[in-house]
Amino acid sequence: MNFSLLNTCLLIVFVIGHIELLVTIVNRVHGLRIPQSVLTQVRHAHDLLIPLFPPVLFWFVGISGPGLILGGAWTDLSVGWQAYLTVCAMGFAGFVVSWCRHGWQCWQRANYEVHCRTIDIAAEIGECPQGDGYHSYLAKVPGNEIYQIELTEKEAFLPRLPAACDGLSILHISDLHFHGTPDRRYFDYLFDHLTEWEPDLVVFTGDLLDEQRLTDWLPTTLGRLDAPLGRFFILGNHDWYLEERSIHKAIEELGWINVAGRTFDLQHENHKIVIGGSEMPWMAKHPNFSQSPEEEFRILLSHTPDNFNWSRSHDVDLMLSGHNHGGQVVLPFIGPVYSPSIHGVRYAGGTFRKPPTLMHVSRGISGRYPLRLNCKPEATLLSLRAGVKRPRRESMAVAVSDSATVGEVPAI
Ligand SMILES: [Fe+2]
Repeated sequence: MNFSLLNTCLLIVFVIGHIELLVTIVNRVHGLRIPQSVLTQVRHAHDLLIPLFPPVLFWFVGISGPGLILGGAWTDLSVGWQAYLTVCAMGFAGFVVSWCRHGWQCWQRANYEVHCRTIDIAAEIGECPQGDGYHSYLAKVPGNEIYQIELTEKEAFLPRLPAACDGLSILHISDLHFHGTPDRRYFDYLFDHLTEWEPDLVVFTGDLLDEQRLTDWLPTTLGRLDAPLGRFFILGNHDWYLEERSIHKAIEELGWINVAGRTFDLQHENHKIVIGGSEMPWMAKHPNFSQSPEEEFRILLSHTPDNFNWSRSHDVDLMLSGHNHGGQVVLPFIGPVYSPSIHGVRYAGGTFRKPPTLMHVSRGISGRYPLRLNCKPEATLLSLRAGVKRPRRESMAVAVSDSATVGEVPAI
């Protein structure tokens, strides 16, 4: 028998397809209302099957059995292997589509101005605020960016925004994930910087806690923010895993307004703006925007970007989300891999427009797994602009440093 390079390459393609399938399953189930214990079982199966498959495939198909690596014939494959490898081929096709979409989104991002500065909080403190939270050992992984937060300023062009409201600013923060890593010093230093901004409105889009006892971190973090039009919040799936009612109460005691499943009217420059919140599919219900006239400007806080189509069908102008953390680990050329969404990595992070809705997905500030590679945490100051704008293709010289943002589509 002779070594077959072609067959070996095809087996590698099937391995990639196998990995893509498992990642797809893990991403999708984490976008659903499924108890954390079940999700843990799914992740364990994923952790086992990914490394197990390549040696099994190469031994039972490549070396023994039909011996494809040694020049064997594909027609000698059993029906079971033929069926599963066909599924793997479909997985590989999905991987190629995802890879092409990432390339397209990166090209579009290059046409879009984003102003940001990176704050290295570990450098400010003088040591890494590692703490003792979940998986704290990950904080020491070389290249980990969990302490390097990007304070990003973006312009959001919105056709239905009243001209009088042009320039309205929103501080969007998401996914604090208090659990001990990073420790409290990281968040206190971060909020020192956030209080330097003077937004008209402050919003938090969920995942406050992974440890119920850490609500006592609130006064020196969310409790320090303020804005003339108010502070509004919803919770996320990680809060749902805990005692969400007491978390709602703890934030409300700081003067924040809970808009989950409801709407709230704001007055700005003699115009009404309606803000609502959705913690679906985990808690509460969607807000009822039908109580307000269609011409009024609508903002939705939704923890998951998966409610994008709901927003579009309810004439939401601006949707603010988190949940996907930008993927947390963004591979060169390939992009993000893990994103807990029914859309996979499509809306991992960035700005997306599908009329009539513009959606901003924050990469968030922290995460249960304290690991970020090529995907810095972020807090964003959005400036709402009345009207539309074409992307500038010649503006690369102007502080385009949103290098970790994935899927940043120009807000045109
Ligand atoms: Fe989160």
